[in-house]
Amino acid sequence: MAHFSILGAGSWGTALGIMLAEQEEHTVRLWEFRPDAADTLSKERVNNEFLPGAAFPDNLEITSDLHHALTDADAILFVVPAQVLRSVLEQINPEWIQGKMLIGAAKGIEKNTHLRMSEVVKDVLGDECFANFLALSGPSHAEEVAKHIPTTVVIANPNIQLVEKAQKWFSCPVFRVYASQDIVGVELCGSLKNIIALATGICDGLGFGDNTRGALMTRGLHEMTRLGVALGGKRETFAGLSGMGDMITTCTSKHSRNRFVGEQLGLGRSLDEILEEMTMVAEGVATTRAGYELAQNLNVELPIVEKVHEILFEGMDAKQAVTELMTRSLKVEQHL
Ligand SMILES: NC(=O)c1ccc[n+]([C@@H]2O[C@H](COP(=O)([O-])OP(=O)(O)OC[C@H]3O[C@@H](n4cnc5c(N)ncnc54)[C@H](O)[C@@H]3O)[C@@H](O)[C@H]2O)c1
Repeated sequence: MAHFSILGAGSWGTALGIMLAEQEEHTVRLWEFRPDAADTLSKERVNNEFLPGAAFPDNLEITSDLHHALTDADAILFVVPAQVLRSVLEQINPEWIQGKMLIGAAKGIEKNTHLRMSEVVKDVLGDECFANFLALSGPSHAEEVAKHIPTTVVIANPNIQLVEKAQKWFSCPVFRVYASQDIVGVELCGSLKNIIALATGICDGLGFGDNTRGALMTRGLHEMTRLGVALGGKRETFAGLSGMGDMITTCTSKHSRNRFVGEQLGLGRSLDEILEEMTMVAEGVATTRAGYELAQNLNVELPIVEKVHEILFEGMDAKQAVTELMTRSLKVEQHL
């Protein structure tokens, strides 16, 4: 049994909290940063804002007190959006979390610094916390985890004993965890697939079909792999659950916010207008900028990522972008 602290009571933090608390040997404390929203969660025992319809088990406690949230925790999950992780870490006294297992479940790359979530932890909290930090990623929509739909994820850290401990704590008949030592690859997979989901959504919005979606997913996986390997990830990770698995789920799902944002762009709406209406985070927008800049710095060719970047931030017409992709110089299909 373990006591979990989950920072971030959005869709994913809430779904993970419910899934862990349903394993009755565990106890879970879920931290929501807005005190009024935390009070509502405590009273209603359901997250009507981010995950309606999934009742909280009795052993799931809600708090807006960060120190209390972390007290006595065996494992701490960071499930706030990638762009706010740093501000949350800066509120934590490293002594509160010394020697504890830390797990990152956000899927994104920090804007401007281009740091992965584990690297942000290292930057703010130091080497010891970095060594204890595992990445959790894979095809796992919160809405489906909350409905007990069979789900698999990967947990990664170079220290396999630590990964195996987490694997046992998290796994249950509807949530199966695979072990990986490639934290770089797993973090990059979860982040970069959102750019491909935006691209797929754009083509859905333009009214294209299954042929285009299949092409984007396959060529998109090539691009994720090319950049990921250049950044130190292992090639095989990109063909696994956190790479291909999550990319397929995200690019084909009605739940994906990134695919939705792309679809709205393809329908001709502006990015500002779309984001203004959304309460939930679409990590792919910031990740597109980071992924594009990383590729430029490393001189890695990513045609789809470049076009998504142009559509999002440079006013490129979506249909024109597809035409330009389709009429590039002809290539040999490379193996992954
Ligand atoms: N939703 C999913 O199915 C899913 C699945 C896997 C991974 N993820 C990843 O998990 C992360 C969180 O996503 P989500 O879907 O739970 O997001 P969400 O939009 O549903 O919720 C975001 C949460 O962050 C909190 N928050 C916002 N600003 C904050 C701040 N400044 N300080 C502290 N907390 C703040 C909000 O109160 C809310 O609880 C993202 O990186 C996402 O890609 C989501």
